[in-house]
Formats: sequence, C-alpha cells, structure tokens
Amino acid sequence: MRPDNHYPSLKFPNNFLWGTATAAFQIEGHPEEYLGKLSDWAEWIDRQDKVLKPTNDGRAVNHYEHMIEDVSLIRGLNSNAYRFSFNWARLHRGPGVFDENTAQFYDSLLDQLLQSNTALGQRSSRIEPFATIIHFVLPNWLAKEGGWENPKTAHEFANFTKFLVKRYGNRIKHWITHNEPNIFLGFGYESGIWPPGYENDWTRYFKAYQGLLLGHQLAYKAIKEVNANAQVGFAQNLYCYESHDENLVNHKWESLDAMPNALRKQIHNYAFIESCVELDTLDFLGINYYTRFSYKLNPQAKDPANANLSASFWGELNDLSKLSSEVKDNSLGWELYAEGLYKILTEKKLSKLLEGKPIYITENGYCQMEAGQPDIDDSYRIKYIRDHLIAVHRAINKGVNVQGYFYWSLLDNFEWALGMKPRFGLIHVDHENFTRTPKASYHYYSQIAKNNGLTTAACSSKDNHDNPSCNSQT
Ligand code: FCB
Repeated sequence: MRPDNHYPSLKFPNNFLWGTATAAFQIEGHPEEYLGKLSDWAEWIDRQDKVLKPTNDGRAVNHYEHMIEDVSLIRGLNSNAYRFSFNWARLHRGPGVFDENTAQFYDSLLDQLLQSNTALGQRSSRIEPFATIIHFVLPNWLAKEGGWENPKTAHEFANFTKFLVKRYGNRIKHWITHNEPNIFLGFGYESGIWPPGYENDWTRYFKAYQGLLLGHQLAYKAIKEVNANAQVGFAQNLYCYESHDENLVNHKWESLDAMPNALRKQIHNYAFIESCVELDTLDFLGINYYTRFSYKLNPQAKDPANANLSASFWGELNDLSKLSSEVKDNSLGWELYAEGLYKILTEKKLSKLLEGKPIYITENGYCQMEAGQPDIDDSYRIKYIRDHLIAVHRAINKGVNVQGYFYWSLLDNFEWALGMKPRFGLIHVDHENFTRTPKASYHYYSQIAKNNGLTTAACSSKDNHDNPSCNSQT
C-alpha cells in the first residue's frame, strides 16, 4: 500500500450524517423466514438456476442474534446515522396480522441506536435511524397474488406503513419507502434474474411500476398523517451512463451509439424520480451510486445480466477492457468511477427536479471476493471511499445539497443472485460462526466520521489507520 498525499483536507458541512446501510434479508437471517418460506426471496434463494452458491440457507450474517454487537460496532464507527430496512415478510403475516416478536426486535434496534452516545462529545448524541420500508423482498402471501403488479400489494404496503409509523414514528424521522424500484424492475421483469423472474416482459414491468408508485404515494400520505414533520423519500440506484468516446459525450445527439445511454438514463435513473416529484411526494432523494455504464447500439445485443437474453432495444455494453489502464473495477466487474458520482450529482436535470431538496447518498460501496480472511489488503475499499467522498465534497461546493453519506455496507452480507461470496462490508463476517472482524476500512471510515471529513497529514507510519488521508492505493 502506497500512501498518497496529493489531496486536500476536506471538511464536510456541520451536521453532515455519516452512516452505513444494510437491508433486512441481507443480514438478519432469522431461520423462520427461510424455513417457513415467508418471503419471495426465501423461496428464490433455492433456485439453482438463479442464485449462486453458497447461500447458507438464508442465515445471511445472523444479525438477528447479533444486533446488540452490531450496534456497538456502528458506535465504534463514530456514526451519527444508520440505514436499515424492516422485514416486511416477518412483520406482516397477512391482512391486519402483525407479528409482535418481530416488532419487538425493531423496538430494541431503535432503542439501541437512540441511546445517547457520550463518546461523541459535542456532536450528535444519537444515531439517526433511516428506515427503509421495503428493500426488494415481498411477503409471499402478496408475491403469490402478483406482487407489485397487483394493486392489492400497494394497499397492503400502505397498511404496513401505517403499522410502522404508529409504532415507531416517534423514533424515526427519515423514511425511505422503496429501495431502488429501478433495480427491482430491471432484474425482476427484464433480465429475470430476481423474483418474480420474468424476461423482457414490459407489460408486467409497467404494471409493477405503477404498483410501486401507488405504494410510494399511499405510504407518503400515511406517514404524513401521523407525523407531518417526517421526511419521506426513496432510494434510487443511479448509474452514470455515458459514452467512453469523448467526442460522443460532447456531441451525443449526433451519434446513434449515444442513444442507448440516453434512453437507459431516462428510464433507469429518472422516470421514478420524475413520477414522485409530479405527485408531490418527495421530501428528499436517496442516491445509491456504484458505477458507470457505457452502451453502444447493437441490434443483436444480449442483456448483460442474463447472457441468454436478447435485449437489443438497449444496445450492448462497451468492452471495459478498452478503458484506459488507469481504470480498475471491483471483483464483480463494476468499474470504479468516482467521477461518475460527481457527474450525476451535478447534472442539470437532477437539480431542476429536486429544486434544492436534500440528497443523501444512501449506498456507495466496494466489493471484493475475499479469500475469507479478515486481514485482507483493504486498500482498494479505502481508496474507493476516499475518492467518492472527494466527489461528494466537490458537488457540495458546487451547491448540491448533500446532507449525508451511507457506506454500503456495514457487514459482509448476502448479495442476492450472487450469494454469499461478494463482500462489501467494513466488517468481515465469518459465514460459519458469524464472528465479526473490523477491516482496515472500518478504522479509516470511523476517523472520517470523527473528523467530519478527510484530513491531510503526513503518512509516515506504515499502517496508519487513524489518519483517513493515508492508506490509499494509487
Ligand atoms: C444495491 C442494493 C443493495 C446491495 C448493493 C450492492 O443495488 O440496493 O441491496 O445489493 O446493490
């Protein structure tokens, strides 16, 4: 690891939120969900043709039994915010039926988060919960009746939200209705690699889109009825779509190859944001940013998420090997492109839509297929965090109202169709005995939160985890 001193000390605005993000199905692992097939994913996880092994039978990282330890690890990060999701399938067992034991789990989680934290001195004394109402996973009793294609799901989502806001509304100010409706639709109805598993079924895609939007609208109203001051938004996955060819970036409407990028951007990035803005149901936007995509027109194209599937409508991904040698990707092949975060944050269209409403980076993270040892070289994750925070800081200086950053993810966890192998965590988890071991990036990120930014200092010590400016891979 070679220290790199060539960047400034960066302070973030006062009250900036520093957190991590997780999702119920990816961490909790309560055996009753998998064994009782309570959710669509509890069934899907067994599909040999769709989900890579190992999956450890839905135990994920057993957060259900490690919650107290996990919250103390969150405190160790000097975090003043934490994003989690409710487990809809375990909480809501049928119309009007809610499970008290599960509800108590979230009481305890919130109590743990809100306990005052004297270690932070002058800074925030509580860990602000950001609650996601659904992070992809549907109760099976709704999935079996058509899921989001059936408006019943949106109405039950509203009932579920009413239950949540009545029970927890005094402790939660920030509500995220949906996580990434665009990713759910793309993988569920286009490539078919996630439930409900349809391939290029655009009628169902748009029916489900309408269901998700109705659900968002009804949930927004339900929350505001109980607490008019609550802040309600959703988390959208935004890709930086652009051509790698500089000439096309500058003259994009003159080239056919630019069209797939422009269309994708509109449907994937903007459509759902626009719908929520039109319906006047957006107080803030959560942005999940990971990477850039570049498409070129090819009528014979295959869907990148499902090699068997023709998706000519969208064009074909440019070959990443043609990128400059500077460019790296993570071990899922996602290009590391921090500049893309700056570009999407400062895009004119986004600022017009949001008109200054707050933005939170609700996910951003680096993944490695690790050998299973906690003391891995974590320098790429550290560099990833640093570069993306520099991009966020530049956007803030340009006037973009970013109020918080949540690293994905607190823990190595279950990564959907890719099973247990990809590791995004700041904390390594042994998948057999569930032992947690903070990685170097955990210490790095905790210092950033403590200092409310990156600090420049001499990186003389070989392994100086206490200095966020060090530990970078160049
Ligand atoms: C996002 C999801 C999250 C996780 C990360 C890697 O699209 O919201 O659950 O899988 O990707």
